Amino acid sequence: MDARLPIAVFDSGMGGVSVLRALRALLPRENYLYFGDSANAPYGVRPYDEILALSRAAVAHLVGEGTKALVVGCNTVTSVAVKTLRAENPGLIIVATEPAVKPAALAKPGGTILVMATDATVHGDNFLSLVHRYGDDAKIVQCPCPGLMEFVERGETDSDALRAYLRKRFEILGGAKPDSVVLGCTHYPFVSGAIRAVLGEDVTLFDPAPGIARQAKRRLAAAGLLNPQAGEGEIRWENSSTDPGMIELGKKLLLME
Ligand code: DGL
Repeated sequence: MDARLPIAVFDSGMGGVSVLRALRALLPRENYLYFGDSANAPYGVRPYDEILALSRAAVAHLVGEGTKALVVGCNTVTSVAVKTLRAENPGLIIVATEPAVKPAALAKPGGTILVMATDATVHGDNFLSLVHRYGDDAKIVQCPCPGLMEFVERGETDSDALRAYLRKRFEILGGAKPDSVVLGCTHYPFVSGAIRAVLGEDVTLFDPAPGIARQAKRRLAAAGLLNPQAGEGEIRWENSSTDPGMIELGKKLLLME
């Protein structure tokens, strides 16, 4: 396989750009193909069979484009579809995303962890098994956030309306202050500023993206597929939405601190 082929990064929309951002920081020489399925987003409120069908179609498209590895930059797709995607694409390196419950539980034993994620993720088996494994080490509060990814998809990463939305969701804490927040949807790192503004600057946020990038690097290195080319690689953007603004949004999110 040609090591100059792109790494495909896939999400239901533009959230996977938070993963692309970490990949670019660690592996700047790689070429990337980013596919956001914004026309069909959000995935997180859909039935599992629809999420699976959309994920299969997106991956078939990306494999057809020519890619050396797939990074699923979406917790929802990982939770619902990654087992099937791996079984159906046995030759393909697939790196996936899961809520960073383990690092959060280990960082602050006995602490309160607020896990923000989509409905599909918090009700999925993967998440339930994480709660099972780490629920004795920390108090895990599940906070499904339907409607939150839409703020990011329209480029609204902080506003009064967004903070009001977050305050409403955080009522689930019953007034308690969490020690940490697990960003269990790849869209949510882009609203970190608003989350901190509502919960306090001292709350620790856990974004899985740097860990995903390290895992991708390990897998590519083990397969001898790191791009040997000098200089910065390219990013090719694709989106299922006909709105050209989605690609512009992706480029803007990529540069967000
Ligand atoms: N970015 C996605 C995730 O990580 C999901 C957003 C959605 O489509 O609901 O779960």
